[in-house]
Amino acid sequence: MAVNREERRTFEKISSLYDRARISYPTQLIDDIVTYSGIRLNGRILDVGCGTGQVTHLLAQRGYHVTGLDVGKEMIDVAKEKCSAFPKVSFKVGTFEDATFSDASLDIITSGMAWHWINPERREEKAYRILRSGGTLALFWSYQRKEESDFVKAVGNVLDKYGGANRGPAGSKVRQISDTLYKKLKGSQSFNSVEMREYNEDFEFSKKRYVDLIVSYGWVQVLSEEKRRNLVDDLQKLYKRYEEPLIIPYKYVLVLAKKS
Ligand SMILES: C[S@@+](CC[C@H](N)C(=O)[O-])C[C@H]1O[C@@H](n2cnc3c(N)ncnc32)[C@H](O)[C@@H]1O
Repeated sequence: MAVNREERRTFEKISSLYDRARISYPTQLIDDIVTYSGIRLNGRILDVGCGTGQVTHLLAQRGYHVTGLDVGKEMIDVAKEKCSAFPKVSFKVGTFEDATFSDASLDIITSGMAWHWINPERREEKAYRILRSGGTLALFWSYQRKEESDFVKAVGNVLDKYGGANRGPAGSKVRQISDTLYKKLKGSQSFNSVEMREYNEDFEFSKKRYVDLIVSYGWVQVLSEEKRRNLVDDLQKLYKRYEEPLIIPYKYVLVLAKKS
């Protein structure tokens, strides 16, 4: 997917909305990254596109040295607050493309819902350079399993009207991104032991939080104010047919690879 710079910049403006709307990641997914990597407790992790610290926080709780990197300063401000109890965690504001890290210095690079925002011409090459030999690249995404939820299907029909066909939260683009990356890494000499793992988890949403979630998507942020208001009105109409809490079935896809 080509990076839409206008959409990418929207995260900076909505850090608190993002933080209250977006979901976290399954414990099993984080455990699997740790086990697959064989990282020791003094190991170093870089969390690329850390946003408001969803992944950074889960790794910090396990006691590792983690650096959260994000281009959005306001996202980092929220992440810093969230991780303030963990002295081994630090943050950098900047792009992955331009940030400086020593060669072969990292045990794991994680990126949740963010790798597709990084320049595809440079990202795997840079990850290869800064990972230690045998270091782990762990890239993951989530999307809603619309085939298992009438509500998510109905939301998809609403979003289609606003140019959101195949976009979040039930968008097939996420699936496409992870499948393409898996194939690319499989075919690369620079990485080995490439695996793809999947996890299912259901989340409860209030109607308010679900609207926030939709509004937190980059492509919704760049709609005109009028269109965004209409979209929210359409969701409110749809809500009349559903009870709270909304039960949303999620799929997580994790792509793992080791530096050769
Ligand atoms: C969808 S959010 C994911 C945040 C968090 N990792 C999560 O799982 O919720 C994508 C994040 O990537 C950041 N981002 C986009 N392009 C980036 C780049 N080139 N370098 C670093 N961060 C970037 C955005 O600012 C945003 O915070």
